[in-house]
Amino acid sequence: MNIILLGAPGAGKGTQASKISDAYKLPHISTGDIFRENIKNQTPIGVLAKSFIDKGQLVPDEVTCKIVEDRIEREDCKNGYMLDGFPRTIAQAEALDKIAKIDLVINIDVDHSLLLDRLCGRRVCKNCGESYHISRLGDKTDCARCGGELYQRKDDNPETVQSRLDVYNAQTSPLIDYYAKKGILFNVVGNTTPEDVFEEVSKKLDAMNK
Ligand code: AP5
Ligand code: MG
Ligand code: ZN
Repeated sequence: MNIILLGAPGAGKGTQASKISDAYKLPHISTGDIFRENIKNQTPIGVLAKSFIDKGQLVPDEVTCKIVEDRIEREDCKNGYMLDGFPRTIAQAEALDKIAKIDLVINIDVDHSLLLDRLCGRRVCKNCGESYHISRLGDKTDCARCGGELYQRKDDNPETVQSRLDVYNAQTSPLIDYYAKKGILFNVVGNTTPEDVFEEVSKKLDAMNK
């Protein structure tokens, strides 16, 4: 099954993707994670991506589409995959239509008043990319999955979050309609706990897998 996770910054795409990937053995493809990996390794794509990500803007479609195209051609995607953070524009969705058949688009719908706190309180594992929130970390300073060190993303500050939200509203939110019209959209309320959101998503995936 080929799945897209849609949602505003901080909606919980990465959090759900990690749970879905574990439970349903689907590779988790996050364009944001791929860009951050390139930034860390100072590749040409990383240098380019950084100039957009630091301002909360989108990396150009051609660059992003090429990365996804190359990634989903790999062997581990043969039996399905899950896209997190892609597509993010109508042009990206149209490019994806040409190279893939998407079975389900999970739209995590979260009250936007919750997003600033979620993002500014997020800590991410340097090693595996797992997301945490300081309100749930207690005195832990490392990743529960792999023991890696946690850090704060550079784009998780109030000013950059605001531009990410503006970009989401202008360029990404039209995708909800785009996929609703294709009849493959599944809306899930993301205001509840990560565990409750995952339960709703699982019910849907289990029903589809039957
Ligand atoms: P990306 O890394 O994809 O960032 P994003 O879309 O802004 O989304 P986030 O990763 O911030 O949020 P999330 O929904 O994954 O939330 P999470 O699960 O971590 O992209 C970064 C940048 O890369 C973009 O701005 C752009 O520049 C570039 N880029 C990426 N893809 C691109 C593309 N296709 N085209 C062009 N440019 C692209 O959760 C957030 C926090 O909330 C965590 O602290 C978590 O613990 C907490 N939380 C999660 N779920 C819940 C819950 N149910 N209840 C309470 N807390 C929760
Ligand atoms: Mg994410
Ligand atoms: Zn980790």
